[in-house]
Amino acid sequence: MGETLNIPPEKTPQHVAIIMDGNGRWALSRGLPRLAGHRAGTENLRRIIRASVEFGVKYLTIYAFSTENWRRPPAEVQGLMHIVEDVIDRELNELNEEGVQLRHLGRLEKLASKLRKKVLSAVELTKNNERLILNIAFNYGGRDEIIYAIQNIIRDGVSADDVNIEMMESYLFTAGIPDPDLIIRTSGELRTSNFLIWQSAYSEWYVTPTYWPDFGSEEYAKALETYAQRDRRFGGIAEKFYE
Ligand code: IPE
Ligand code: IPE
Ligand code: MG
Repeated sequence: MGETLNIPPEKTPQHVAIIMDGNGRWALSRGLPRLAGHRAGTENLRRIIRASVEFGVKYLTIYAFSTENWRRPPAEVQGLMHIVEDVIDRELNELNEEGVQLRHLGRLEKLASKLRKKVLSAVELTKNNERLILNIAFNYGGRDEIIYAIQNIIRDGVSADDVNIEMMESYLFTAGIPDPDLIIRTSGELRTSNFLIWQSAYSEWYVTPTYWPDFGSEEYAKALETYAQRDRRFGGIAEKFYE
């Protein structure tokens, strides 16, 4: 902690999204059960939330459980659900005092009612906080998000000619949240795994072989510094080439 960032504030990404991957392999490499890796992962999350506040990141989105993660053995799925409950129980008050606003991305319907209620009350409790917006993608899938948006657009009777990028975005779970500037994926996999597939159209990527439980504030700072060097063109050309 206490890491300093060597980049000017205007080069700091406003929105960072993280695919927190590699908990299982982290545990395996230590001869531990996979769930021990998930626990170590949530401890690291605490560090990265703190570092985000320190670094001046305004929005942090974390991929905690995908719509495809239900394919894992029931004991692992159950374990992951319990870890989330524990984290809410242990951390909520402190996060609230630190000015963190929690938001949920994904579908709550499929979760046990106890967990669903905990998530909803955490969102309600922190809704006026402004220091850091923490979006937790839990039972989230990018394809599911787009289908859900289309269903609601049709239900609302929107005419085909009125469908455009802005209105589509207003129907996504991320409505009102700017697109991620930087997406970090730990554990080296080169794929989106269905994370923010609409919103990441022009995001910058940082992939590291480090497993999530070992991805500390030092490497986080390095990821942000790497981002600050990128030339984001959004399909255009650099200003210096204009006549
Ligand atoms: C990421 O770690 C956490 C979740 C997907 C919930 P993994 O559990 O995917 O870890 P690996 O990829 O098997 O190492
Ligand atoms: C992506 O990791 C999901 C989360 C980090 C929550 P996975 O481990 O599920 O992704 P794949 O299966 O390797 O693509
Ligand atoms: Mg994985």
